[in-house]
Amino acid sequence: MNYPHRSVLLHEVVQAFEGCSMPVFFDGTLGAGGHAEAILSAHPEIEHYLGCDRDPVAHAIAAKRLSSWEQKVEFIRGSYSEMGRFLDERKMDFVDGFLIDIGVSSMQLDVMERGFSFRGEGPLDMRMDPSSELTAEEIINSYAEKELERIFWEYGEEKQSRRAAAAIVQARKKKAIRTTDQLIEIVKPVLKWGKIHPATLIFQALRIAVNDELGELERGLDQAIARCRPGGRIAVISFHSLEDRIAKHRFKESEWKVAKRSRQQSGCLKILTKKPLEASDEECRDNPRSRSAKLRVVEKVSDQ
Ligand SMILES: C[S@@+](CC[C@H](N)C(=O)[O-])C[C@H]1O[C@@H](n2cnc3c(N)ncnc32)[C@H](O)[C@@H]1O
Repeated sequence: MNYPHRSVLLHEVVQAFEGCSMPVFFDGTLGAGGHAEAILSAHPEIEHYLGCDRDPVAHAIAAKRLSSWEQKVEFIRGSYSEMGRFLDERKMDFVDGFLIDIGVSSMQLDVMERGFSFRGEGPLDMRMDPSSELTAEEIINSYAEKELERIFWEYGEEKQSRRAAAAIVQARKKKAIRTTDQLIEIVKPVLKWGKIHPATLIFQALRIAVNDELGELERGLDQAIARCRPGGRIAVISFHSLEDRIAKHRFKESEWKVAKRSRQQSGCLKILTKKPLEASDEECRDNPRSRSAKLRVVEKVSDQ
């Protein structure tokens, strides 16, 4: 059966958990359930697969795909950064495996009414969780020029961030900016045309801000490190250099070390991927979205 979202680095993710016995697995970004299907197939010992996603649409699609494991899979609608609370509510102390595949899914990109895409007209929404409050429209129409500039520069690495922010502030004085098309018309003249659509980085930056994606990642990694059982593994797929840097640094901070002189131990993680794993040429050809994907994997070695 064809599913709307193609999972990236599928083979590499399965390999990341190879040899681990994982009664409890936490999938923080269930999406269309592609990684879940592969992990459940490779690990018949899984007793409880917690599939979390902010987006209710994901659950409906994944439920069909994972119907063979319906006794084991539990869908949780919420943010993976709240894993600790979800585990506490279920009276569970630890997980044996943790995966996040952060970013947007094809189900979100392809539905113009959700406003994630610059390829068609839609409202400036971009919320992964449709019940959350902040929308792209609110950011575009109410944030100060300096803050817009920071968002475009930091989250989009957009070199024309200042010009784009100024153009938006000028335009909104005349009329509120409500749709993706309106926003594109405003920023297009001040952005440089290159290999990608000129509004790509502006849209990416807004999506990251609306969904607090970097904050989610920082809090989620803390949860994963705290609640992973020694011997368990944590795998993170990111699509953005800022996200990859956050994962790299957070893992490095907690790397397990023994001081030469005092023999004192510190940290609790063994880094299994010194460099992040990337998609093969074949996968990049087949699924262009995988070109920017990076996978980092660590193992929890102690409970410190
Ligand atoms: C790239 S897709 C995941 C695809 C999935 N791994 C698969 O194989 O089908 C990312 C998903 O993560 C969800 N998501 C993003 N940030 C999240 C967060 N902080 N908490 C929970 N879900 C999140 C999105 O709603 C989206 O459905």
